[in-house]
Amino acid sequence: MTRVILIFGGTGDLSRRKLYPALYQLHARDKLKDTVILACGRRKLAREEFESLAGEFIKPRANQPPAAAFLKRVHYHSMDFNHQDDFRSLYGRLVELVPSQREMVLGYLAVPPAELEPVVRNAMRTLNRSQRARLRLLVEKPIGTDYASARRLNSLLDRFVGEHNVYRIDHFLAKEAVENLLVLRFANRLFERIWSRESISCVQISFSEQIGVENRAGFYDRTGALADFVQSHLLQVLSLIAMEPPSCMEEDPIKNAKARALKRLAPLRAQDVVMGQYGMGKVDGKDVPAYAHEPGVNPASRTETFVALRTHVRTPRWKGVPFFLMTGKRLGKSEGLVTISFRPPIACLFTPGGKEHGHTHKYSGRKAFDLGTSQLQIQVQPEEVFRLRFNLKTPEEALSVKPFSMDYCYSCDYLYQRLPYEKVFEDALAGDHTRFSRRDEVELAWKWVETLKQKPQLHHYMAGSSGPAAADELLSKDGFCWQKA
Ligand code: BG6
Repeated sequence: MTRVILIFGGTGDLSRRKLYPALYQLHARDKLKDTVILACGRRKLAREEFESLAGEFIKPRANQPPAAAFLKRVHYHSMDFNHQDDFRSLYGRLVELVPSQREMVLGYLAVPPAELEPVVRNAMRTLNRSQRARLRLLVEKPIGTDYASARRLNSLLDRFVGEHNVYRIDHFLAKEAVENLLVLRFANRLFERIWSRESISCVQISFSEQIGVENRAGFYDRTGALADFVQSHLLQVLSLIAMEPPSCMEEDPIKNAKARALKRLAPLRAQDVVMGQYGMGKVDGKDVPAYAHEPGVNPASRTETFVALRTHVRTPRWKGVPFFLMTGKRLGKSEGLVTISFRPPIACLFTPGGKEHGHTHKYSGRKAFDLGTSQLQIQVQPEEVFRLRFNLKTPEEALSVKPFSMDYCYSCDYLYQRLPYEKVFEDALAGDHTRFSRRDEVELAWKWVETLKQKPQLHHYMAGSSGPAAADELLSKDGFCWQKA
């Protein structure tokens, strides 16, 4: 059967950076047989213009076919998503490309949240019931701009194609190290037994990015880091760490357990949230402009490009354990880290402390130790590393204890992995919902974001730095500091 992949937002940043490279990989793996790809965008582009725009981020690996052959397979259609007539002509174009009309259509909504509704409504008016039955919709995050709009959109999607044909994307759920969180927790008794307040003192989830707003000012300036990144990616990672064990490793029990964890999040208080916006600076040796001077950004913008926050999961397992979340653009490095810090040993043979708690302790009045905090760290990117930090003695004569690290570099063993968006396409084509967010997860995440009643003061930080100093103070108040890889 012929399949059609229809991309709305086909000239946007997401399509260029992520979707075409992922589709190219599927093409290179010969997974797109009998598949027609049609990209739709507002821009009127000549064929060559479209190909050069769509091909910019495709990087074939050794022995992979040239990108040109793939790009020839991608058709382009220019249209206005607000005009219903344009949807009729889009339908006409589809019939021209795939005359059988028995095809399954996978529509990818790679458009900003404000445009999701018009696209869905216009498509709904254009297609009849049996045409809708052959349609699956991939919806890019953020789903809506707030709780109310997310609910409206979800209801609309439900009416249009039904929940079973909606695939809500959070591509972090397709990142190998994030998927591994569940396996690490539940396939190793070692970790599952210590996964609670008894042993864990603090959880940190931090994703720093070197990139700035890129070509997405129109979207980003209306959205900000809290809605763009925290509401989706960071909360998905948090729920995988905080959830209770599901009854089995199946889709619904896992999603139920994640949703329950989200429901138990403590409301956000302004004093637990630090927001920042980047000023000019140097990233990777290159001068970069301040956010407010990026093309397309309102120079008086108060949009946050950095968020750090503290929250709690109000369950017996996590009582009193702070969860610190952080994300920011134009920081000094690009790195995604989850750090689980363990409490000091119960028997005080070695006085706990170390630098994290601000002082170094003496042993028998003779020897100073730098006892480190035992940690499990999951580095999600750029490399995937599973790291265990613990204290050991050194071979010197006098007893001397030092923190060591044991690293397993997963991405060194698995050099070629499928890209997250490659998995997303493959799963949706196969009708598998496992790696997608369910309606209630998305709505609960928005509900929690809206518990922040008042945005806190906006700090400015220099591009290339590690963010505003206030983000460090947020942790030091509790005796912690941001962990590095
Ligand atoms: C997107 C956000 O969902 O994820 C972007 O909208 C962010 O702001 C991106 O840069 C990060 O994804 P990745 O896979 O490049 O780390």
